[in-house]
Amino acid sequence: MSEKIYDVPSEWASRAFVDDAKYREMYARSVNDPNGFWADQAKRIDWIKPPHKIENCSFAPGNVSIKWFEDGVLNVAHNCIDRHLATRGDQVAIIWEGDDPSQSRHITYRELHDEVCKFANILRSRNVEKGDRVTIYLPMIPEAAFAMLACARIGAIHSVVFAGFSPDSLAGRINDCQSKIVITADEGLRGGKKVPLKANVDAALKKCDGVDWVMVVKRTSAAIEMDDVRDFWYHEAAEMVTTECPIEHMHAEDPLFILYTSGSTGQPKGVLHTSGGYLVFASMTHQYVFDYHDGDIYWCTADVGWVTGHSYILYGPLANGATTLMFEGVPNYPTNSRFWDVIDKHKVNIFYTAPTAIRALMQAGDEPVKKTSRKSLRLLGSVGEPINPEAWEWYHRVVGDDRCPIVDTWWQTETGGILITPLPGATKLKPGSATRPFFGVVPEILDPEGVVLEGECTGNLCLARSWPGQMRTVYGDHERFEQTYFSAYKGKYFTGDGCRRDADGYYWITGRVDDVINVSGHRMGTAEVESSLVAHPKVSEAAVVGYPHDIKGQGIYAYVTLMAGIEPSEELRKELVAWVRKDIGPIASPDLIQFAPGLPKTRSGKIMRRILRKIAEDEPSTLGDTSTLADPAVVDDLVEHRQNKH
Ligand code: PRX
Repeated sequence: MSEKIYDVPSEWASRAFVDDAKYREMYARSVNDPNGFWADQAKRIDWIKPPHKIENCSFAPGNVSIKWFEDGVLNVAHNCIDRHLATRGDQVAIIWEGDDPSQSRHITYRELHDEVCKFANILRSRNVEKGDRVTIYLPMIPEAAFAMLACARIGAIHSVVFAGFSPDSLAGRINDCQSKIVITADEGLRGGKKVPLKANVDAALKKCDGVDWVMVVKRTSAAIEMDDVRDFWYHEAAEMVTTECPIEHMHAEDPLFILYTSGSTGQPKGVLHTSGGYLVFASMTHQYVFDYHDGDIYWCTADVGWVTGHSYILYGPLANGATTLMFEGVPNYPTNSRFWDVIDKHKVNIFYTAPTAIRALMQAGDEPVKKTSRKSLRLLGSVGEPINPEAWEWYHRVVGDDRCPIVDTWWQTETGGILITPLPGATKLKPGSATRPFFGVVPEILDPEGVVLEGECTGNLCLARSWPGQMRTVYGDHERFEQTYFSAYKGKYFTGDGCRRDADGYYWITGRVDDVINVSGHRMGTAEVESSLVAHPKVSEAAVVGYPHDIKGQGIYAYVTLMAGIEPSEELRKELVAWVRKDIGPIASPDLIQFAPGLPKTRSGKIMRRILRKIAEDEPSTLGDTSTLADPAVVDDLVEHRQNKH
């Protein structure tokens, strides 16, 4: 762990919204007088009816209930668009940069208003009403933003499914929330490669009964099949509607979106976020964490299929009247300079990306960075997984020319917005640490018995009280919500992450302590990969763990026991990787597969993952006690044939 400290640059201390003294003062008020603090913050957005009830939350076992601003009425799309029209109608809201560097678009707030209203009118014309679910399976094109905001405008609940997911994964998500309509494109385009989105939807819908409509955006003009009754083109429908669409009045606690995310057990769960608290929190964190000032060009490289894209490409920035950049491509296409070229092309001031991208670009050396200017850059951000100090230092020195602070932001799909982070004008930085809690956030570190640890310590990270961006429930399954997040430590939200607090009170996230792995910043449940593997006819048993991976952060390591009579082979290894890829999506592809004659189990039949993790990490000398295993000998074979030997 690095203990190097970077002071707040002097120009930052004077220009930023918050310096250290202000951070301490605001933080103290946020925890001592949360109702007063959040009542003031609620004023950052427009309310049709302002809230008087501020916080009404309980983490009590059996009675978890989270409500913020519950008597307030608002519309999220109005806040992200309409309220800006009088003062910034001609300001660019979205800069779109295509996969192909010759393609880009500038969309003003006025244009965004018109596009979103048309989109919303199309949805209304197909009988989409307040509370209906809409599945969005689109690449990173402006229509993805129009679709999400159109849902918000008419009170429909969007469920964006990352366009890298397979037809089966898509079908599961459509069925879980019973969407009546799916919005997709003919094809996606990433790194010059085409992704058959419409064909994936066609395959998915063979497993879904309730979908009446498929709206298709033309992106590549590929030849695709269109069902005469079910499918229609967006560009044709858009010609039939007007650019005026009245907003739906929404209660603060009316749902805004569902986003599926992986957990340690079972299928992905639908994380539900609501309107008022989410927007206040996304807007506030975007302003303070990125120190966003009027006129700044801000770029978050996430995909709208993940929560980072929801909160920090769309809702937070647009609520703040920002100019937000949306990028269709990938970091290394057409060259390893792409990110930096885009920064120079659009004069980006604030840049927010993931450690996995930083590590991959670091491997390509300094030259692709150094040949670009990047002089517009002022602030860098990191999100999605722990950033190793080496990558942090490179990001700071090479990308930021030692000039730009880095905000290492810790949060989760469930938290809606950033919870632990530096503020660039206030916080001294330590490479690898997410540093201090944001306003209103009360982290606690607990030992496995539930004792709250004080001072310097390492343990499991919980949050002692609610914040407005917190998820409200698992869609359709409140019991699972309570079970997943509130049962390990009574009365607290358990994050699933391990954490260290140092002598300065800084937080260092050490990674997941449950059966979730984080591959290139994407969350994957080991149980999902296992159930995919055991569905293969030649596999009898499978156990999946994470292992350290130089670029991805964690890689997927699968132990596979074959059916009697099936011989291990390289072909079968490839077949199994392809199987999981097809079943879940490329992000779930196992990196290493070890054919295991047996798995280490206790006498009661429970797989001892601790041992499998150690072997996958290439640390066979630290296996610990194996005497409780039903057959300790299986371990010797696993160690001998481990796939990650250095
Ligand atoms: O383990 C933590 C890791 O990513 C998990 C949340 O993943 P997801 O819901 O997909 O959201 C990702 C984008 C917010 C967390 O439980 N994580 C996220 N940010 C950081 C992090 N780990 C360390 N440092 C971070 N800055």
